[in-house]
Amino acid sequence: MENTNERLKGIVKEEYSKIALQSKGQNETSCCGAGSCGTGTYKIMSEDYSNLEGYNPDADLGLGCGLPTEFAKIKKGDTVVDLGSGAGNDSFVARSIAGEEGEIIGIDMTEAMIQKAKANAEKLGFNNVQFRLGDIEDIPLSSKRADVVVSNCVMNLVPDKKKAFDEVYRILKPNGHFSISDIVLKGELPESIKKEAEMYAGCVSGAIKKGDYLEILSDAGFTNITVQKEKQINIPDEILLNYLNSEQLNEFKSKGSGVFSITVYAERPETECGCEPAAKCC
Ligand SMILES: C[S@@+](CC[C@H](N)C(=O)[O-])C[C@H]1O[C@@H](n2cnc3c(N)ncnc32)[C@H](O)[C@@H]1O
Repeated sequence: MENTNERLKGIVKEEYSKIALQSKGQNETSCCGAGSCGTGTYKIMSEDYSNLEGYNPDADLGLGCGLPTEFAKIKKGDTVVDLGSGAGNDSFVARSIAGEEGEIIGIDMTEAMIQKAKANAEKLGFNNVQFRLGDIEDIPLSSKRADVVVSNCVMNLVPDKKKAFDEVYRILKPNGHFSISDIVLKGELPESIKKEAEMYAGCVSGAIKKGDYLEILSDAGFTNITVQKEKQINIPDEILLNYLNSEQLNEFKSKGSGVFSITVYAERPETECGCEPAAKCC
């Protein structure tokens, strides 16, 4: 399991190292920005960020699948952590809301993404936005550091989602909260898709069922779990046919299975039933 997880992370790192060097246009040509599973120009997941205050086109690689900062209730002066920050797209929007007195920390495990994000922050002259190399399964931050956590289209790529959400809980201050946009499934994905590393890096194979996702959040101790937005992602047949034959494709569609983008909100409670923090014993 450990080895499989490390192998999957290696695939993701390799894919996103390439993506970091591509333009938004190149990245938009396939699932979750990974410019490798289609030949046409599709806008499958990405949202339009360009009207958001703080938007920086150099940081937008077309990799998001929601607008978590729109839902994250960020306040002036907040410490906001952006998990899987890529080139900094959501971090810069968060910075425009948290202001000069806020602090923004982006975490990403792909060195090329961190370099790109740091170069963007330097160009903008921001001294309260930092980017750190690190794994979401083991976040390089002390406990109770963040008022708000945001993340955009990343958790589906993390093999151990339970560990990742335990880490989100740990770094949030009591009463802190997150808004995370991500990919989830309804129904089962065909085995042939699940096996494809390319579809994994493209945010599809790593996604889990919506119900299982929400259960991980409540098991981690979060409260007030709310799906703030949900949208079906239509993956063109042309892409699916790279992985399925036409019979399998018809079966997939007829079962009502689907890939969805959701933005989910949850809070770390103020107290944990009188127990030691993180004991979550009730
Ligand atoms: C789909 S991109 C999204 C980037 C950014 N959030 C955006 O919307 O532009 C996924 C990002 O998550 C990072 N990532 C994936 N798994 C990670 C992990 N376990 N720890 C840290 N970063 C991770 C990748 O390196 C990549 O930059």
